[in-house]
Amino acid sequence: MQEDPTVFLNDYRPYPFALDRVRLSFTLAPRGTVVRSDLSFTPREQGADLALDGGEGLRLKRLAIDGREIATGDYTREGEALVIAGAALPDGAFTLSAEVEIDPADNTAFEGLYLSGGIFCTQCEAQGFRHITFYPDRPDVMSVFEVEILSDKPVLLSNGNPAETVAGRAVWSDPWPKPAYLFALVAGDLRAVSGTFTTMSGRAVDLNVWVRPGDEDRAGFALTSLVKSMEWDERVYGREYDLDVFNIVAVDDFNMGAMENKGLNIFNSKLVLASPETATDADYERIEGVIAHEYFHNWTGNRITCRDWFQLCLKEGLTVFRDQQFTSDLRSAPVKRIEDVQALRTRQFREDAGPLAHPPRPDRYQEINNFYTATVYEKGAEVIGMLKRLVGDDGYRDALDLYFDRHDGDAATIEDWLKVFEDATGRDLSQFSRWYTDAGTPQVTMTETWTDGALTLSFTQKTDPTPGQLVKPPRVIPIAVGLIGPNGDEVRPTEVLEMTEAEQSFTFDGLGARPVVSALRGFSAPIILERDLDTETRAFLLAHDTDPFARWEAGRGLALRALSAAAMGEEDENADAFIDAIGRLIAEDDTDAAFRALCLRLPGEEEIATRLAAAGQIPDPDAIHAARERLSLRLAVTHEALLAGIFDAMETPGDYSPDADGAGRRSLRLAALGLLTRVDGGLRAQALEREAGNMTERMGALAVLVSLGQADEALARLRADFGDNRLVMDKWFTVQPMAAPPADAVRIARTLSEDAAFDWTNPNRFRALIGGLSANHAGFHAADGSGYDFVADWLIRMDGKNPQIAARMSTAFETWNRYDADRQQKARAALEQIAAVTGLSRNMAEMVGRMLS
Ligand code: PHE
Ligand code: ZN
Repeated sequence: MQEDPTVFLNDYRPYPFALDRVRLSFTLAPRGTVVRSDLSFTPREQGADLALDGGEGLRLKRLAIDGREIATGDYTREGEALVIAGAALPDGAFTLSAEVEIDPADNTAFEGLYLSGGIFCTQCEAQGFRHITFYPDRPDVMSVFEVEILSDKPVLLSNGNPAETVAGRAVWSDPWPKPAYLFALVAGDLRAVSGTFTTMSGRAVDLNVWVRPGDEDRAGFALTSLVKSMEWDERVYGREYDLDVFNIVAVDDFNMGAMENKGLNIFNSKLVLASPETATDADYERIEGVIAHEYFHNWTGNRITCRDWFQLCLKEGLTVFRDQQFTSDLRSAPVKRIEDVQALRTRQFREDAGPLAHPPRPDRYQEINNFYTATVYEKGAEVIGMLKRLVGDDGYRDALDLYFDRHDGDAATIEDWLKVFEDATGRDLSQFSRWYTDAGTPQVTMTETWTDGALTLSFTQKTDPTPGQLVKPPRVIPIAVGLIGPNGDEVRPTEVLEMTEAEQSFTFDGLGARPVVSALRGFSAPIILERDLDTETRAFLLAHDTDPFARWEAGRGLALRALSAAAMGEEDENADAFIDAIGRLIAEDDTDAAFRALCLRLPGEEEIATRLAAAGQIPDPDAIHAARERLSLRLAVTHEALLAGIFDAMETPGDYSPDADGAGRRSLRLAALGLLTRVDGGLRAQALEREAGNMTERMGALAVLVSLGQADEALARLRADFGDNRLVMDKWFTVQPMAAPPADAVRIARTLSEDAAFDWTNPNRFRALIGGLSANHAGFHAADGSGYDFVADWLIRMDGKNPQIAARMSTAFETWNRYDADRQQKARAALEQIAAVTGLSRNMAEMVGRMLS
């Protein structure tokens, strides 16, 4: 019988010992790395047992208390724990010394100490440190660390400041107490691209971006982004960096995007390395945003960390919110907001609507690594955006100042966070706290009544049950509203209505003529807003709304309605209105190109499916695909001349630069290309693929050619040019299954999986292919179930090597029960096949269990 591995928030107990200091010494070797540790404890409770985490992978060589070896009878090792009975411990403070041996070369899960292309590196969040040595591996146990590294690798790095370095030996000392999940060590043949930053109080900080020899010319953008992040956090949050050196290391094998280890961030190389020939505009924007995100964690995550892993969104939601603000400031705020909302709707709303739904602060988990989700990150950030809207910019600033002041050095909770806002602003946030504890996306309806110069807006809210939460009390919902007069002038500027009841009305009076309501401006709350709006009014808002988000949303509303109707085999007047209005909008030469590109791109198939499901219908992936193809063709035929003019005008002039302006022009150009292709037989895409001087246009054109089945030569060319560049080859692997006609997608993915370059144990490569297919909505959901079987087979295979990656990719199935009975039966069979595997990881067992329950 397997024990139930569920961990509950309510079971939290403080650790009964203080960890006053930690000394570690590593003698590195691919097999048989020796880790010596001295942990100095002071008891906080009389007679408590000392429980340390550390599993079977640790070969224990020696265990001593205050220098005296302890006998095997004085401790027990069970599962993932080592326990020393309280009776065997001294009365007061003591030092526990251990020597263990581990094999980084065998570590295919990339958790703990592992090797990536000959570089020793670590990943300890959330619970990787227990694979390095025995330790109280929980975020509320914080300590100062001193780390010695013995190795013949030329570059030896750890957290904090360098204390001593000679060939073969380095000592690092980190003065800031931290939990073990922020520990890091790197040893390898690396080259630095370096700079310095002088902080607001005049301290000079050495900055290094460490890459493999030969990659130096692609690391400059990351370094520049780091400097911008440091400046921004000082200017906007008053936060200064607190060590003499800040190191970033790029590695090719990494389970996530990047990691905020104190003073030594470790990054997936795809979020560091960029050149115009190898990286797209989207890559550049991501690199800038993630460098900022990890840097910002130094305060929101490291100086103030989480009491336990249930509080994950305390650091992640806040840090995402901060990196979103940063990108808005550096680039275009409206464009960033629309991109973020799009991502939220495609990833988080879908999560919230299915079997994996959970609140931003969950109250139970089996495997914490399964909770690094869109809900914890992106919805966690939205919740903070709402807080800021409710308390105002000054209130937010005061609350954050108080947060840093009060909790610096703490392992804090969501309650602490909300208390800071209550104390700084005097507001009662008890109802607001439901955003943290309740799962699901509220559905809000809005209706209008107009009488004698008074406009009344009536709202209702309801949230469907989610797993384990059947009743959903009403939440506080900030709804930003503005009123626009018939001539297009704004008659009432934006005002935030605070909805707190299940049903509530707000009246605006003293109005001359009946205005048009611009609602949920800036996407002021992560809700689904349903309003019965006629086509003309939507078109009016698309033409006149002064709020860019609401303006984009009006166009999206038309397109989504037209597409949903078409996918259900119905006629819809919204299509004509959309085509008409979009023609006028894209012709506005003085409107930001990036904004026009966003308006021109049709909602994705996944988003259409999510909308149909939310409306109680059964989405048909093939019909959705066909509807989207038809609307694209109509757009292209109607606006061919206009689109051709845009395509030519948006050519990148002179040298490529990854800034927002240039990226916006290329984005509009590629959006036009995607449509023009339907009337020019692929001619423009063929030409652009050959002539493009940057990867953005080359990949954009290539994706179009793949969708047309005309990409053989272009794919061969890309491989010939960049066969030895892993990041470009990842793109090569993604674009084929993702952009392929759905009917070919699984066959293409299968062929690619047999390619010699499909090094599937590399997380990026696995994600490229399997994630590429999962992103092809009608391809993955092929009616014959071949997409499900193919992905399930690979998940099973990956689970034996790297459970985190396998479990994360299993979310391809999270919407399985919204499709027709036939697809459901096939998806269920695939999931059951996974569930039946003997020795399935806890990660995967939890995911599949939740999806099948
Ligand atoms: N804490 C990292 C981030 O969001 C994400 C991460 C989690 C990385 C777990 C590795 C492992 O910035
Ligand atoms: Zn983070």
